[in-house]
Amino acid sequence: MQTTLLKKLIQGIPKAELHLHIEGSFEPELMFEIAKRNKVSLDYDSVESLKKAYKFNNLQEFLDIYYVGAKVLLYEQDFFDLTWAYLKKVHRENVVHVEVFFDPQTHTDRGVKFEVVIKGISGALEKAKKELGMSYKLIMSYLRHLSEEEAFKTLESSIPYAHLIDGVGLDSSELGNPPSKFVQVFKESAKHGFKLVAHAGEEGPVDYIWEALELLNVVRVDHGNRCLDDEKLVKTLINKKMGLTLCPLSNLELKVIQKMEDHPVLKMLEKGLLATIHSDDPAYFGGYMNENYYETAKALDLKKEHLMQLAINAFEISWLSTEEKKNRISEVKSYFEAF
Ligand code: ADE
Ligand code: ZN
Repeated sequence: MQTTLLKKLIQGIPKAELHLHIEGSFEPELMFEIAKRNKVSLDYDSVESLKKAYKFNNLQEFLDIYYVGAKVLLYEQDFFDLTWAYLKKVHRENVVHVEVFFDPQTHTDRGVKFEVVIKGISGALEKAKKELGMSYKLIMSYLRHLSEEEAFKTLESSIPYAHLIDGVGLDSSELGNPPSKFVQVFKESAKHGFKLVAHAGEEGPVDYIWEALELLNVVRVDHGNRCLDDEKLVKTLINKKMGLTLCPLSNLELKVIQKMEDHPVLKMLEKGLLATIHSDDPAYFGGYMNENYYETAKALDLKKEHLMQLAINAFEISWLSTEEKKNRISEVKSYFEAF
């Protein structure tokens, strides 16, 4: 499809973003603005020099910079501004539903109260619901490079705010930090009514995806790129109707794949996996939802049918109610029929 037409098609798709770290949507311009008002110094003297540092050879190199950027976030207003900036931006891309990750430990470890973080983020999500008509869910992610005991402390801090949280996730440095390290805290989180997801098979091996399924009992796998290494796992994921939230530009920037043409999402769709496309940390990886759809479609020569399937899958594996899913999916179908 011709570039302008493809971009127009993608722009108009009603989309669900299910894999987005709110701290990863921190654009350098806003980061510098908040750093200035909070009198926090960044290790970089300008937006340009910071952007130049956004070159990563692996997940850890990215995380090292990502945690530095988050250090300027101190007050409820900062978390609100970060989240609101993100929501306004993706509303313009016709993202109608978001399921947002936040990493409480990145902030509480610096002395910022859990309450400050969650009130700021939730305030902006509520505003987007009222003013922009967006629906949302919120996912609290445990940092897997820290201990399970630390995750338990985070769970405890979250209990007074459990009504604002829909699920828990597992992110940060994957290699050497398997899902099996967090079995007990995931069990306990489920008792509090939280849905469970985990990053698995991004850089880590196929065993980590098995562990996420069998030991953590996740309802969705974040990334899951490596599942194609194991035919039995592919069958299991299909039988379980397990969603995989893939992030193509992230995969490219973190060298999970060497070129976009190698991205596994098309193979996954062809096998019948519930694969979807998302943006992960868009401020760091050069694109939000539309760019992720566009770059993937271009490299893999995706057809209209594939794009429609990706958009439908995202609503299918979302945490919207059955009724809301049905409505959104028929919106997607009508959009493609009319295009
Ligand atoms: N935290 C933010 N982005 C992440 C990613 N892509 N993988 C693991 N942890 C993350
Ligand atoms: Zn992620």
